[in-house]
Amino acid sequence: MTVPSLVVITPMRRRHLRAVLRIETRSQPRGWSLGLFLGELARPEGRSYLVAKVAGQVVGFAGMLFIGDEGHLATISVDPDWRGNGVAARLTAVLCRKAIEGGATALTLEVRAGNTAAQALYRRFGFAPAGVRRAYYKDSGEDALVMWAYDVDGPDYAARLRAIEAPLAASTELDGLTVAGCELDHGAASGIGGRP
Ligand SMILES: CC(C)(COP(=O)(O)OP(=O)(O)OC[C@H]1O[C@@H](n2cnc3c(N)ncnc32)[C@H](O)[C@@H]1OP(=O)(O)O)[C@@H](O)C(=O)NCCC(=O)NCCS
Repeated sequence: MTVPSLVVITPMRRRHLRAVLRIETRSQPRGWSLGLFLGELARPEGRSYLVAKVAGQVVGFAGMLFIGDEGHLATISVDPDWRGNGVAARLTAVLCRKAIEGGATALTLEVRAGNTAAQALYRRFGFAPAGVRRAYYKDSGEDALVMWAYDVDGPDYAARLRAIEAPLAASTELDGLTVAGCELDHGAASGIGGRP
């Protein structure tokens, strides 16, 4: 798929779930069910679920849980046709910003040991492997790598996020979201497209 001129990041709503589930079933062997997504959307406190849209079409989604001073990246998937365009980077940046805004000092996640694409994404966001949960995934028996990013409230992490956001800012718009410090909201003002 061609490089998007504008990616809109907006809170996930029930009306997005048909597209979200289509992406989920194309992305994960045993992904989340409709009931699971509905349950999460019914309890908005302590969590944030977002979708990314291109020309009105949902092309990706992600969600994070906020527990104490930790943010837990619970899910992220991008439509296979739209991968490699910075969609996941935009979603992750906004979720990291929201976690930090809410007082998080550390971020964590589990990822399949063989999922090198996702691990590369997470490394860009400062996550490092911290342990393994053996046979964590029931469908395949695959191990989970547990990854953490620490001191996300500090200046070094702020600089990391800015470096990720800067090349994406002109082609990103936040809709229905205000996120402290996030530099990903210039698309609407400038109308500039181009390579993210
Ligand atoms: C992992 C996933 C979400 C990445 O989405 P994406 O929109 O293609 O990722 P982005 O274009 O934003 O890439 C951001 C960074 O991630 C890394 N990355 C993403 N895909 C990669 C790949 N296939 N190989 C290596 N690195 C990759 C790169 O560092 C990339 O930065 P760069 O383009 O500047 O090098 C997507 O491949 C996906 O949906 N996979 C299936 C679902 C999944 O595995 N979810 C994670 C569960 S833990």
